[in-house]
Amino acid sequence: METSNINLVPKSLLKKHKQRIFNTSDKFFDEEILIEEIKKIVKEEKIYLISHYYTDPKIQKITEELNGCVSDSLQMAKAGSESKSQTIVVSGVKFMGETAKILSPDKKIVMPTLKATCSLDLGCPANEFKKFCEIYPDREVVVYANTSAKVKALADWVVTSSIALEVVDHLDSEGKKILWAPDKHLGSYIKNQTKADMVMWDGACVVHEEFKHEGLKKLIKLHPDAEILVHPESPSTVVDLADCVGSTTQLIDYAKKSKAKKLIVATDKGIFYQLLKNNPEKEFFEAPTAGNGATCNSCSMCPWMGMNSIKNLHDAVKNKTNEISLNNTIMKDARISLNRMVNFK
Ligand code: 13P
Ligand code: SF4
Repeated sequence: METSNINLVPKSLLKKHKQRIFNTSDKFFDEEILIEEIKKIVKEEKIYLISHYYTDPKIQKITEELNGCVSDSLQMAKAGSESKSQTIVVSGVKFMGETAKILSPDKKIVMPTLKATCSLDLGCPANEFKKFCEIYPDREVVVYANTSAKVKALADWVVTSSIALEVVDHLDSEGKKILWAPDKHLGSYIKNQTKADMVMWDGACVVHEEFKHEGLKKLIKLHPDAEILVHPESPSTVVDLADCVGSTTQLIDYAKKSKAKKLIVATDKGIFYQLLKNNPEKEFFEAPTAGNGATCNSCSMCPWMGMNSIKNLHDAVKNKTNEISLNNTIMKDARISLNRMVNFK
């Protein structure tokens, strides 16, 4: 049965999120003025912008125009420490800013908002995760980057969807047994592909969990020549229909190289900005979130990614609001598992 984990999203946030989807004309300020000021300050103060593919296309565009980094979460993690800038503004969700801080503790890392979390992070509290790890002391603890710094500090490895398969395959080849957290769908995908011995935490992404097998099959019938791109946080019934399963960067790269003229995409809508920009001659379709058991509360848009706006990006750039600050011991421990990820390949 296809289920949803949407109850992890606070009701007040869902209400605002729906307003974001359906009421885009509601502007109380002149965005163009803010955008020009962001560009001026970033250049003058040599600030480095890092933004995720799910953020507002306007944020992605500004980041590109200022030679910042727009990418998936692995590249975002690497970009922060590789940059020479002392001030970095990370647009995305909180774990992305925390990762940048852990890998560059001497830099000032600010975010448009610190309220942008992630259902995977919310669904895996460090104290409960610690107890789970204690049940399996003989297992290598591999956690997804979409977790708190405290959870990363408990892990042996951090991975993102772009290298999770290779890391688990590598550990499996060394005869290691895995404890995986928190995304059960990504975990199942890796387990199926590698046949590694894995026990799993029961977490899910509220956005990807809503993609529906039956709806996708109907869309494929309408466009039998289309290729299917799926982020591995989606349920296995959706992953099974994919031509390409991968991180946001991997999906974008696949779309560029694909000979198909039509592509159906199961991930957050924010990615369409890059897909359309890079492939003006191709047609892209959103994978359906409606069908039996559908709530369409997220409607392929991460409510937390959507909390990043031009207004709060301007505030972060101008006033350095929302600086990331973490406990030194937690950072020290989390850096070990994160460094394994960034140095893996
Ligand atoms: P990527 O690493 O593929 O960008 O994924 C991050 C994420 O949060 C997906 O929901
Ligand atoms: Fe987390 Fe899902 Fe949002 Fe990605 S899309 S940040 S996994 S809630």
